[in-house]
Amino acid sequence: MARTKLLLDCDPGLDDALALLLAHSDPSLELVAVTTVGGNVDLASTTRNARALREYLGFVDVPIAAGAAEPLVRIAANAAHVHGEAGLGNVRLPAATLPASDRHAVDLIIETLRAAPGEVHLVATGPLTNIALALAREPRIAGWSASFVIMGGSFTRGNATVAAEFNIYADPEAAAAVFAAGWQVVMIGLDLTLQAIATPRIVDRMRRLGPLGADFVVPLATFWADPNDADWSGQAVHDVCAVAYIARPELFRSRSARVDVETQGQFTSGMTVVDFAASAPNAIVPVEIDVAGFWDYVHDAWQHAADGHPND
Ligand code: RIB
Ligand code: CA
Repeated sequence: MARTKLLLDCDPGLDDALALLLAHSDPSLELVAVTTVGGNVDLASTTRNARALREYLGFVDVPIAAGAAEPLVRIAANAAHVHGEAGLGNVRLPAATLPASDRHAVDLIIETLRAAPGEVHLVATGPLTNIALALAREPRIAGWSASFVIMGGSFTRGNATVAAEFNIYADPEAAAAVFAAGWQVVMIGLDLTLQAIATPRIVDRMRRLGPLGADFVVPLATFWADPNDADWSGQAVHDVCAVAYIARPELFRSRSARVDVETQGQFTSGMTVVDFAASAPNAIVPVEIDVAGFWDYVHDAWQHAADGHPND
């Protein structure tokens, strides 16, 4: 059966790393390219992490291209306080030996989509700077991508600020351009991702993934766990939901909406303003996830990798 192709633009990042594992381990998916952007940590770190993940997880034939270090017009914000200074929490991977591509991420995105119109899903799990730059250089990518899925935004509260989710907050101008590009953006926001928390019971299941669980999945998914807190409720794996949507859209219940991005607000910059009653929707907003089905799917894919044969 033909595999579902995706390009992942990301800022690894604890949950980006888990999303890359899913993209590589699900036999129904084919990760065709990875591009990096400054976000959780700086571009040099997100690119270093992506290269190290490529060799640790084994997707060594997949090109990685670095993209924008800074937002379009803003001063870069980061989330090192969330992901750790190096970006992967306490996980320390062997240094990569394979280089990143000498192409810019924007060129790799355009060339990958141009070469296979309608075949490659574009997934973005960091700030949308690379996507906005690619649209500016080649607007036709909006028609070439099989779909366009982001982890970002919220139709209730933010996490970077009360109003804004981090990926949108980091580059609101880029996000505004992306939502205005004429395609249907699948916006997997905090309202969705916070339904699929890696709870202690889920983490216990991950511990059965052997070394991949003990050395990689569990440390990434519990970076914020307080082992002395009996009431610890769990940690989000936001970006994993975006990749899961490509592979298992039936796990999600979605609504159409018009999404606009606030770029001027003193207190609301980066807010995604979601109108579910709009007559001209530009987005598909998943609002509910089958949590048990999601974790069964993710665990089975990660078990496939743990058994030593991802994607075969
Ligand atoms: O708000 C969550 C998002 O911001 C995730 O993509 C996480 O990796 C950070 O980039
Ligand atoms: Ca991310």
